[in-house]
Amino acid sequence: MSFVVRTGVDMVNIARIADVVARHGDRFLLRVLSANEITICAGRIPAIAARWAAKEAVAKLLGVGIRGLTSGAHAVPWHDIEIGRDTAGKPFIALHRYAATIAAAQGLSSFDISISHDGDYAIASAVAIGITPDA
Ligand SMILES: CC(C)(COP(=O)(O)OP(=O)(O)OC[C@H]1O[C@@H](n2cnc3c(N)ncnc32)[C@H](O)[C@@H]1OP(=O)(O)O)[C@@H](O)C(=O)NCCC(=O)NCCS
Repeated sequence: MSFVVRTGVDMVNIARIADVVARHGDRFLLRVLSANEITICAGRIPAIAARWAAKEAVAKLLGVGIRGLTSGAHAVPWHDIEIGRDTAGKPFIALHRYAATIAAAQGLSSFDISISHDGDYAIASAVAIGITPDA
């Protein structure tokens, strides 16, 4: 057995997300975010941008793209990666369906995510650890 560690990071220009929200509104929000994530963001554009960055960061650590942004066979849907919030306000990663399957196949079992937004940018950094059987 061997330990595996993966990281992913993504940075988003908040104005770019503000522009998409202004043009597409709920259609964009519902495509990218779960109902719970929409509640957490409460219309805060920096928080929405941060969820976009967080999902991209998780996709990077999984070694896949996000469906709609990339067309690769392994691209995951936006809703397969969910960013929750605990009672202290700390974000956490919840993987569903195909994203959970990909993570399990790589032996990844524990995840963490950190988010920040300031000025023009939102950033998210994700980490995953696990144990894989030796080849
Ligand atoms: C967490 C904290 C440091 C955020 O710092 P900030 O510079 O004001 O804001 P940033 O833009 O860098 O980060 C905001 C993000 O921090 C995350 N966050 C909030 N509370 C958090 C916590 N307890 N632990 C980790 N991350 C947290 C959230 O994801 C938030 O983004 P969101 O509102 O879109 O969900 C600040 O709210 C704080 O001091 N909280 C109380 C102390 C604490 O719990 N610290 C934890 C780290 S030691």
